[in-house]
Amino acid sequence: MYDYIIIGSGIAGLNAARLIPKDKKVLVLCKKSPWDCNTFWAQGGIATAVDDADIPSHIQDTLTAGVNYNDKKAVELLSSKSLKAVKNLIDSGLKFDLNEKGELAFTKEAAHSRSRILHADGDATGRMIHIFLLEQFNHEIITNAVVNDLLIQDGICYGVQFFTSETEQKVVYAHNTIIASGGIGSIYRYHTNSTAIAGEIQGIISEKGLKLKDMEMMQFHPTVVKGTHFARKPLLSEALRGEGAHIVDENDYRFLKDYHEDAELAPRDVVSRSIFDYHKKTGLGVFLSFEMFEKKYFKKRFPNIYANLKDLGYDLPTQRVPISPAFHYAMGGIETTLDAKVKGVKNLYAVGEVACTGVHGANRLASNSLLEGLVFSQIAVKDSLENIFEISKEDYTKNIKSYVRNKKIDKAIKDDLRKIMWKAASIVRDPKELDETLIKIDEYLKQDLGRLLFLRLLTAKSIIQSAMNRKESMGAHFINVKA
Ligand code: SIN
Repeated sequence: MYDYIIIGSGIAGLNAARLIPKDKKVLVLCKKSPWDCNTFWAQGGIATAVDDADIPSHIQDTLTAGVNYNDKKAVELLSSKSLKAVKNLIDSGLKFDLNEKGELAFTKEAAHSRSRILHADGDATGRMIHIFLLEQFNHEIITNAVVNDLLIQDGICYGVQFFTSETEQKVVYAHNTIIASGGIGSIYRYHTNSTAIAGEIQGIISEKGLKLKDMEMMQFHPTVVKGTHFARKPLLSEALRGEGAHIVDENDYRFLKDYHEDAELAPRDVVSRSIFDYHKKTGLGVFLSFEMFEKKYFKKRFPNIYANLKDLGYDLPTQRVPISPAFHYAMGGIETTLDAKVKGVKNLYAVGEVACTGVHGANRLASNSLLEGLVFSQIAVKDSLENIFEISKEDYTKNIKSYVRNKKIDKAIKDDLRKIMWKAASIVRDPKELDETLIKIDEYLKQDLGRLLFLRLLTAKSIIQSAMNRKESMGAHFINVKA
């Protein structure tokens, strides 16, 4: 029996673990290694209000990017708590990059009205935060623990069932369970996520009849490197555009100006859609150009992008790089209250990308995701400490099922799912394709599948159904009206 089980080892899970008092018994379950999470790959930075006076403007930028579909109270919480949450990280020893004066170096990203993004090791902010949180970690952790069920009965969560290998399953009980398992990247053909992220827990929530919210709101990052081999695409951080990089066609024409007055600094959904549309209309290749950067500065400010792209054969900032959008972030997820609780369950929390607090609305403002993980994990821990809830495992009377993790037919279906989701539910959605995809997913769900694919399909189904239900375009959900 644990006081807390935390599912996931990104910023939300590890920060929750950091804030839980040391005398509590805490278990963190991670699907692969602790590094297999989206936090590890986050480049640009963590947004924060710069000072009290900046809070209204950070709130406004978040609402504007989110097309005012955001839950305003959640946005106010996020921004007003950002100053203390980030200060607490710094006071605990996390080192963000400093400017020549030795002050915090704030940078700018698209749709921010001022520079308010902190970064670490140039363009490895997520990795530096992740390493820092792992260094602070002193609870129990199990790696390769693949969660396959939550033990929920009568609005109470008793614990978690997980695979420890292809065939072995274990059950652990806890007074509180915190879901921090991230988004849904592997459901799409092209994405920027850790390959461990595939939306299974969202599938469990859907199976239990609990609510997923805003699942049609899926964000596509405008600038990933095109033409690499794997589904996970190398990201070219938004901070590059924030500091001056241009998106051009093969004739060096900055076509984004024809789509939005803020061009490269327009909200992410607008930039992704414009690239998609321009390429479709003209057939021309699209590139990110860095020629305005001085080489020495570029290498210092973006050392990891410089090195990664060198490995791929590009000499930055001299050479431009072919780009396209790819799936990046799920605004939708498990519906939570403002104190980070899963709606309808007393002692179950969801924090970070897996949750839908409503903070991001229809389009997340750049670099608000690490901040959300930080702030809402803190809110979850505070709530659980203030409202102590204890379970007795004997009260869980449902059968503990035995699942089959993977079946032979899964691989082909998984691959097809990625393709049909990319086609039907990515940057531009076509109602007919959504209908056809739903039929296909329902057919797949009737087959004798492994547990993990079954859950992934339930999550995909919820994305398709939400997209079908929203008849008008809004933010990241864009319908092709001609279809
Ligand atoms: C990036 O560096 O462009 C990613 C930042 C984010 O997704 O907020």
